[in-house]
Amino acid sequence: MLPPRMSEPEGSPVFNPRMHQGGKLSFRSRVQDGADDPGEFLVLGGKNPPPLDQLVPRGFADVEIEIGPGKGAFVLAATAAKPDTFLLGIEAAPGYASLAATKLRQSGRRNGLFLVDNGKLYLEDRVPAGALAAVHVYYPDPWPKRRHKGRRFFTDDVPAVLARVLRPGGCCYVATDNAAYAGQIVRVLGASSLFVREEAEEARVAALGEGHAFSPTNFERKYREEGRVLRRYAFRKSAAGSPAR
Ligand SMILES: C[S@@+](CC[C@H](N)C(=O)[O-])C[C@H]1O[C@@H](n2cnc3c(N)ncnc32)[C@H](O)[C@@H]1O
Repeated sequence: MLPPRMSEPEGSPVFNPRMHQGGKLSFRSRVQDGADDPGEFLVLGGKNPPPLDQLVPRGFADVEIEIGPGKGAFVLAATAAKPDTFLLGIEAAPGYASLAATKLRQSGRRNGLFLVDNGKLYLEDRVPAGALAAVHVYYPDPWPKRRHKGRRFFTDDVPAVLARVLRPGGCCYVATDNAAYAGQIVRVLGASSLFVREEAEEARVAALGEGHAFSPTNFERKYREEGRVLRRYAFRKSAAGSPAR
């Protein structure tokens, strides 16, 4: 049986999944205007989100997850660029997830889905070992306030979390505009024996064009227009992260 999620007060609205071990995160959420029609392309995780094998239809050898897809530009492009891959976007803000899922439904493609949940928790307790070809994390919230630092995705526990769910040779692709957070990402993942940074892979996927890794995302577009420096990294699971059984 799956472990239950932290209990929520009775009468919580449906759009109210657990967002963080230490308490709820106050995510920005688009006001529901009734225009979205996400159908089965949106799953509300709530207290007991379905495990990965209940979300991915049979027949997909490659499954990739994007943590924090926002309005979903990358998942939308990736489902088109990689029709044989299943893309799961795990988004904490229900309004964004609903908007993204509506766009995916309208695309007519069936190799993707959006789930409302805390992405790191989902990786930890709903994804089997070695199930993923890739994990994408683009422009994650930097949570600049000292008291919110524990809410960052790339904390010291993340190499073990990612190494468990990635298959041998699987990659975590990351982009950020935030220099301090980039430093933390490189320190945490780059210094871990479970991962190796691969600049050749960064160049390879960039050359493949949109929807393979890194691009397009809504924040990428916005930050590019603002002239910010965008940093991109590919970390491949190392042999140490895939011990022989
Ligand atoms: C700065 S936005 C970037 C959105 C998108 N990746 C892009 O580049 O346009 C960060 C997104 O991550 C989501 N998010 C933050 N923490 C999360 C978590 N623990 N699990 C899932 N989504 C999360 C936020 O709700 C927000 O939509």
